[in-house]
Parts: sequence; structure tokens; C-alpha cells
Amino acid sequence: MAHLIAPSLLSADFGNLRRDVEMINNSEADWLHLDIMDGVFVPNISFGMPIIASVGKFCTKPLDVHLMIVEPDKFIDDFHRLGASVLNVHYEACVHLHRSIQRIKSLGMKAGVTLNPHTPVSVLEEIVPDVDLVMLMSVNPGFGGQKFIENTIDKTRRLKELIVKRNSPAVIEIDGGVNYETGKRLLDAGADVLVAGSFVFGAENPTETISNLKRL
Ligand code: DX5
Ligand code: ZN
Repeated sequence: MAHLIAPSLLSADFGNLRRDVEMINNSEADWLHLDIMDGVFVPNISFGMPIIASVGKFCTKPLDVHLMIVEPDKFIDDFHRLGASVLNVHYEACVHLHRSIQRIKSLGMKAGVTLNPHTPVSVLEEIVPDVDLVMLMSVNPGFGGQKFIENTIDKTRRLKELIVKRNSPAVIEIDGGVNYETGKRLLDAGADVLVAGSFVFGAENPTETISNLKRL
């Protein structure tokens, strides 16, 4: 499949949120990536329900929600109500991951499992046939604008092998430090979806940057 681009709202101008979401609407972006942080699972707090509800009203792209929170099960139904199309939970935050994945799918959302940089892809051996998406963190979650962790390239290759071996339908999404150079190498390694925050919103021309990322 042609790869997808999911700009991350975390690096948008929150004083001009509507303007920035309209920019996404009018761009070649495929999804809008929303980073939800609770200050417990990650050492930062981002934004919550009221903002997502508001963004959901004027965003025309599917919402790709990345939950960086403990006990994500508590909020699966809420994120469904708020209009999430893709719901990503962290492997490290889910004691009963199979149950969480089934709940997300039963509500009609795409179910994603996310791995922190230190978590090996081998932990997905049993669950990978059940998920729609695996997201690899290529930075430690919590902040935009961090340096890309180089090991993610090899890890993407290993994940792709596992997906093929287990006959899984899962697509591979990569989150953190994506730019033209890392993006290209990730796609070559087997990535299907690239998240980009600071590289898009920090660019002089974000719309053009999204188009360029689509053409990598
Ligand atoms: C980090 C978030 C990312 C972040 C990526 O915890 O999950 O989605 O917005 O930002 P960049 O692209 O700037 O690394
Ligand atoms: Zn994210």
C-alpha cells in the first residue's frame, strides 16, 4: 500500500488550533495523530477530552489516537465516543492486552499496540495476528522534537518479519523524530504510516512538508 502520513497535533499552535487543523484538512495528510499523556505513564501532560471533542468537530481526517496513559481500558469507550478511528494502546500499559484489543475492535475502531523503544518486537508474537496496527516509538514517549533512535530501523525490519511470519494484517506505524531522511529509511525498512510532529509544524510550509513526506 502507499504509505500514510499522520501529522501530530502535539506540535501545533494551541492558540490557533482551528487554523492548524484546517491546514491538515486541506493537506495530503491521511490521519491526524493525537497524543494523550497523563503525567504518570509518561513525564508530561498533553491535552484531554474537551480538546479532542472540539478538534473532532472540525477535523475531516481520521483521528489516530495515541494513548500514553496508565489503565487505558478505562477510556476506550470515551475515545470511541470522541470519534477515534485508530486507537493505540501501549503494550507496557496493558495487563490484559488481548482484552483491550478486542474491546477496541468491537467498537469498530482500528486497534493498535505501541511499543516503547526498549520493548522487543518478540513480545507481540501471540497478539500480532489480532491487531490492525503496531506502532513503534522511535523516541521515548512524552515530548515532541526529540532525536530519532537509530535502532528503530532494524526494529522495523524485525517487526515486518514477525508480521509476515504470523500472517498478520497489521500495518506498521512509526512515531518520533521522523523527517525526510529517517522517514525514507523507515519506509524502506517496511513502515506503512509515519507520524511527524515538529518536522511538519516547525516547517516554513507545513502543507508542502506533508506533500513531500507523502512522496518519499
Ligand atoms: C511523543 C509523541 C509523538 C510526538 C512526535 O511522545 O508520541 O507523536 O508528537 O513528535 P516529533 O515528530 O516532533 O518527534
Ligand atoms: Zn504519538
